[in-house]
Amino acid sequence: MKVPFTWRPTGWFMIGWSQEFPTGQARPLRYLGEDLVAYRGDDGALHVLQAHCRHLGAHLGHGGKVNGDCVECPFHGWIWGPDGRNRYIPYQDRPNRAAALRVYPVREQYGCVFLWHQPDGAAPSWEMPDIFRLYPQYETDPAAYYPPYPALSRKSQREPVHPQIPGENAADSMHFRYVHHATVTPVLLDWQADDHGWLFETGWPDRRSDDPNAMALRIHSYLFGLGGAISAFDGADNYRLIFATTPVEDGCSDMFYSIWWPRLPGDTAETPPADVLERLEKEFLSTLDDDLEIWRYQDYIEHPVMAVQDAKPYMAYRRWATQFYEIAPGE
Ligand code: FES
Ligand SMILES: [Fe+2]
Repeated sequence: MKVPFTWRPTGWFMIGWSQEFPTGQARPLRYLGEDLVAYRGDDGALHVLQAHCRHLGAHLGHGGKVNGDCVECPFHGWIWGPDGRNRYIPYQDRPNRAAALRVYPVREQYGCVFLWHQPDGAAPSWEMPDIFRLYPQYETDPAAYYPPYPALSRKSQREPVHPQIPGENAADSMHFRYVHHATVTPVLLDWQADDHGWLFETGWPDRRSDDPNAMALRIHSYLFGLGGAISAFDGADNYRLIFATTPVEDGCSDMFYSIWWPRLPGDTAETPPADVLERLEKEFLSTLDDDLEIWRYQDYIEHPVMAVQDAKPYMAYRRWATQFYEIAPGE
């Protein structure tokens, strides 16, 4: 997909699930056009640094060893700290204090990992919202839900989808009927933007009611910048989900889908029973595939011909999105 804006936007972006980063291991990642190393120190804290050693450029994520809160280069054993600074050179009495790797701020929440990206390496100018406490009106104890990873999560890699596109989808209530085979058309009940977030409330009309304002289901969705949507469902099943899109490099993104499904009473297992799992797979986890069938082949239309009801939220969303593009496309 060709878009007239950068694939290296500013904001918080999901890079995986906590369990993918075990203590004492270093792993390579590629996001926002950069090679990265992620490692969890022996103290349990997760760090993400620029991948290539300042000495002679070895990739710290391929064979790098965790040493305390530092990572050791597989090539000549130089040691780098979580602040990116060179801590130790094995064959020299002092480190090179001037040498440093770029550090990417990381936040872990409820088993999901988010990384701050600003093209020039500036510190976070806003905080990643708490994905559970955003909706205090619903159950906020994570233990009341089955954890998303691994059974209730999906990752789709290197899809040709810019993060602005799933965001636009949040304003699009008509596509449910066509893409997701919904039997009722949801209505956009409310939307409001703050500095870095966008809150949508969508309702699914109750077909069994004569009152057109009666809703069988309400979906609250909050877009945290362009990184993704945090949603809570209020209906027959009160579940939560987040859907995140993170650019890998120009032209493609990884997509992360995580569901917190309410536990069956008394069930302490990590995964829901097989029948529940099967239903979730059919009804919810497959929605990503439905959307991808469109997004993969979609063209970005800069000046779309809009239906009357779409125009306002779409155009407002696109204007709001421009704040996250601090550099030109391809830069
Ligand atoms: S390249 Fe990393 S220590 Fe030499
Ligand atoms: Fe969709």
